[in-house]
Amino acid sequence: MRKAVSATRPIRPGVVSPRRDVPTTIPRPEYAERGYPIGQQPTDLRQSDRTIEGMRTAGQAARRILTKVAAEIRPGVTTEHLDEVAHEATISEGGYPSPLNYNGYPKSLCTSINEVICHGIPDSRPLEDGDIINCDVTIFLDGVHGDTSETFLVGDVNEVSKRLVSVTRECLYHGIAAIRPGGLVNEIGQAIQTHAERNGFGVVREFVGHGTGPVFHMPPNVPHYFDPKHHFEIIPGMTFTIEPMITVGNWRAQIWDDDWTATTVDLGHTAQFEHTLVVHEDGVEILTVLDNEPQPFLAGADRSTWPDTLPTAEGITV
Ligand code: CO
Repeated sequence: MRKAVSATRPIRPGVVSPRRDVPTTIPRPEYAERGYPIGQQPTDLRQSDRTIEGMRTAGQAARRILTKVAAEIRPGVTTEHLDEVAHEATISEGGYPSPLNYNGYPKSLCTSINEVICHGIPDSRPLEDGDIINCDVTIFLDGVHGDTSETFLVGDVNEVSKRLVSVTRECLYHGIAAIRPGGLVNEIGQAIQTHAERNGFGVVREFVGHGTGPVFHMPPNVPHYFDPKHHFEIIPGMTFTIEPMITVGNWRAQIWDDDWTATTVDLGHTAQFEHTLVVHEDGVEILTVLDNEPQPFLAGADRSTWPDTLPTAEGITV
C-alpha cells in the first residue's frame, strides 16, 4: 500500500465573500444569469478557423491572467485575494470569468490547495508555508473559452509534494505528446497514467479533460487514465483540454458539503496542470501560451522544450 504524505493540516473551509460583479458592457456566456448551461452541445466537434483564432486570443488572455495570479502567490495571501486578482484581470482583458455562476459556482477562479483535487472555492484562508496550490483560470472572450491551470509551490514545500508537482507537469506534456489525428482519446490517458504510476503516483478518475470552445464543457471527455472503452477518435480541428490530476496516495475523491470542493479520500496531496489545445493535421497547438513561448508539439518542433511554469511572488518555478 502506498501511504499518503501530508505534512500539513487538512484544509478547512473559510469565509466566502459575496459574489463579484462583471460590468454589463462585457458579453456573458449563456449560463451567466441563469446559473446553469442549456446551450446545445455541438455534434460536429471540428471548430472553424475563425473559432480557433478566437480561442488563440482567449487562451493567451487566460495565460496572462494566470501569470498575474501567480505573481501574488506567497504565504499569508488569501485565496479570496487571488480570486479578486483573477476577476479584475479577466475584466481588463474584456472577458467574463467563465467559472462565475457556472452551475452556481460562486467565484471567478478555482483555488485547490494540498489535498484539494479541483474546484476549491476561494475564501478567507491565508496560504501557508509548505502549501501547494492549483489556480484554474478560464476566460470567456469573444464567444469562446480559454482554460488553463498550474500548481504553484508556497514557501518551503516537502520533497514528495515538489516531486508530485513536477511529475504532474510532465504528465500534461506526455499527454499532449500522445495526441495524433486518427488516434484514440485513450492514448492520452495511457501516456499520463504510465508516467504517473512509474513515479509511484495515482491518477484521479472522477474528473477529466473536456472539449471546449464556444461551449465551456463539451465532448469529447478526455480521461487521464487508460480504459479501452475510451475509443473516441481524435480528428483535426478538435479543441479540448488535458488537465491531469495526480495524487501522492489514493486517487479516489470525496466532495465537501459545499458540493464543489473535491479532495483525496486520504488527504494526500494532489496537483494539476492544464492547457487548452487544438489538433492540426500535422501537430498539436497549445492555445493557452503566449506567442513567445515554446510550441513543442507543432510539426518539426523540439518536443522536449516545454513552456516554463509561471513564477510566484517568491520567484518559485517548478
Ligand atoms: Co478545464
